[in-house]
Amino acid sequence: MKKILITGGAGFIGSHVVRLFVNKYPDYQIVNLDKLTYAGNLNNIKDIENKPNYSFVKGDIVDAAFINELFSLHKFDSVIHLAAESHVDRSISNPLEFVMTNVIGTVNLLNAAKNEWKDNFSAHRFYHVSTDEVYGTLGETGMFTETTSYDPHSPYSASKASSDHFVRAYHDTYGMNVIISNCSNNYGSHHFPEKLIPLSIHNIKNNKPIPIYGKGENIRDWLYVEDHARAIDVIFHNAKTGTTYNIGGHNEWTNIDLIKILCKIMDKKLNRDEGESAKLITFVKDRAGHDLRYAIDSTKLQKELGWVPSLQFEEGLEKTVDWYLSNEEWLTNVTSGAYKKYYEEQYTKR
Ligand code: NAD
Ligand code: DAU
Repeated sequence: MKKILITGGAGFIGSHVVRLFVNKYPDYQIVNLDKLTYAGNLNNIKDIENKPNYSFVKGDIVDAAFINELFSLHKFDSVIHLAAESHVDRSISNPLEFVMTNVIGTVNLLNAAKNEWKDNFSAHRFYHVSTDEVYGTLGETGMFTETTSYDPHSPYSASKASSDHFVRAYHDTYGMNVIISNCSNNYGSHHFPEKLIPLSIHNIKNNKPIPIYGKGENIRDWLYVEDHARAIDVIFHNAKTGTTYNIGGHNEWTNIDLIKILCKIMDKKLNRDEGESAKLITFVKDRAGHDLRYAIDSTKLQKELGWVPSLQFEEGLEKTVDWYLSNEEWLTNVTSGAYKKYYEEQYTKR
């Protein structure tokens, strides 16, 4: 029986990865380590919490002594590392928090894994989940490939780039069995409503302005979160040590076009007159250092490991809206308390 540590499994993507692994691999023991920050929520994985091959540990990856003890207690076979501070806007107001979790936290995990696994690195895998934002921004053409140079612009992407470099350094220096994937923007259920799509769904439902940064011309490449989880499964089991894979949906949208489609879907679902939700669109001050365009070339993953995205964007968006509309309690819970303060600080001054 394999024992796998998944970090950040109470967050958006991590919860989908934990669910996939717990259900698909009853022979694996999955240990979910999460600090339960504002973004972590055990309700995200309520459906699997009583499964015999699943357990949860609350803890902070920044706490090196705790992490070392955890590794020595559990004797993990492998790690899939997703825990991170993930929101660009928060990194602009509080960069140090991102350095602590994303850089120091990752190095703590690498050190603990190195100490435990040093006699047989090849039998133990450290999978680091990263982002396309490390590559910086594209102009109107081109795509990010696995060999694109790193050029991060936000404190968030700089911290993720730094963690990627550390992961590669532990492969090159110590011979650890590491893999990295860099994925584009995810969307789907359980996405915290500070991010564009769930924030807009929440605001449209409550007849509040939809804040679009700048002119809404920035482009993101959207991938359904369950497709990302499937890619992580395929890469974890099949990639060669030391390799990197880009994951993306070949699905680029300007923010404004995306929001217009979302408004149409919301009009239909909420029985509103066509065009009613779009009246909520409000252009606000741009994000500092706002990357213009991301686009992932996932040819390597598709050709070498046979992964392909499964959903068309409009189908995925509709599924996502349905989930939010039928999980009102989830949304109410995460948008009460601290969220209100964050929202005011982030948006009332714009
Ligand atoms: P998220 O913010 O929804 O979840 C992060 C999780 O990490 C939360 O459960 C949080 O409690 C936990 N966490 C934060 N700090 C911690 C700490 N110090 N110790 C232990 N746990 C801690 O993030 P997400 O969107 O699910 O992203 C997961 C990973 O995927 C991140 O590494 C992110 O960089 C990467 N990624 C995200 C996207 C995206 O579109 N969301 C795309 C590509 C890559
Ligand atoms: O590309 C992968 C990255 O995607 C991940 O690494 C990050 O963790 C994840 O948060 C996401 O980053 P973005 O900054 O692209 O996502 P966000 O939802 O914050 O913003 C998407 C686009 O929408 C971006 O161009 C900024 C814009 N935006 C965002 C918000 C929150 C708005 O116009 N208004 C908003 O209120």
